[in-house]
Amino acid sequence: MKVGILGSGDVGKILAAGFLKHGHEVIIGTRTPGKLGEWLQKNPRGRIGSFDETAKFAELVVLAVKGTAAVEVLRACSVANLAGKIVIDATNPIADAPPTNGVLTFFTDFNQSLMERLEPEFAGVRFVKAFNSVGSACMVNPLFRGGTPTMFICGNDEAAKSVVAGILAQFGWETADMGKAEAARAIEPLRMLWCIPGFLRNDWVHAFKLLA
Ligand SMILES: NC(=O)c1ccc[n+]([C@@H]2O[C@H](COP(=O)([O-])OP(=O)(O)OC[C@H]3O[C@@H](n4cnc5c(N)ncnc54)[C@H](OP(=O)(O)O)[C@@H]3O)[C@@H](O)[C@H]2O)c1
Repeated sequence: MKVGILGSGDVGKILAAGFLKHGHEVIIGTRTPGKLGEWLQKNPRGRIGSFDETAKFAELVVLAVKGTAAVEVLRACSVANLAGKIVIDATNPIADAPPTNGVLTFFTDFNQSLMERLEPEFAGVRFVKAFNSVGSACMVNPLFRGGTPTMFICGNDEAAKSVVAGILAQFGWETADMGKAEAARAIEPLRMLWCIPGFLRNDWVHAFKLLA
């Protein structure tokens, strides 16, 4: 697929390299292309563009920008470039505040997720929440002694979720579909839980697994 990654942070760079590794065409969207020189050297098949060039090129989009900038970045892409496309939403609504005893502060509350905030303005977009609840270093084909980790996803478009489940299988994950967009209210805070061992004990290598 033609994949457009909105975001040049760790998540954007790692997922972009992961999509290239799995045979997809990739462009990273950023306001500051200069900072991706080293990434481009390591990933010569990748390309860099503006946010709107990235959205226009993409058949599938990954939103991997700072949570506070998510709306602004989607606006910069223009609604027409995103209409009808799957957007994997990897963002979290992390506030500009330090963690308290290892617990992140969110700018949303438990009755509305960031993904639900994005949906009304970008109504034609097929959002799927995924990749938000694990650290970037563990996103692509992670190896855990405990076996294959579980990625919790949700979204209102069933066909979009099955495309994302296919990508997750390529990336070494099993998928747990938690249902419609409202489930992002539960999936986004998993990031809080995931980060606590990191902030408290510098332990950043783990993932969730759903047992039955
Ligand atoms: N880091 C992780 O391990 C991790 C894991 C799971 C989920 N997440 C989530 O994934 C997202 C990306 O995280 P990250 O750590 O890779 O990077 P980040 O530092 O949270 O975000 C970097 C990206 O946000 C863009 N950005 C920041 N402020 C902006 C603004 N005012 N206007 C437009 N764009 C702006 C930057 O644009 P430029 O490219 O122009 O600089 C850059 O592309 C976040 O929502 C985060 O919560 C992170």
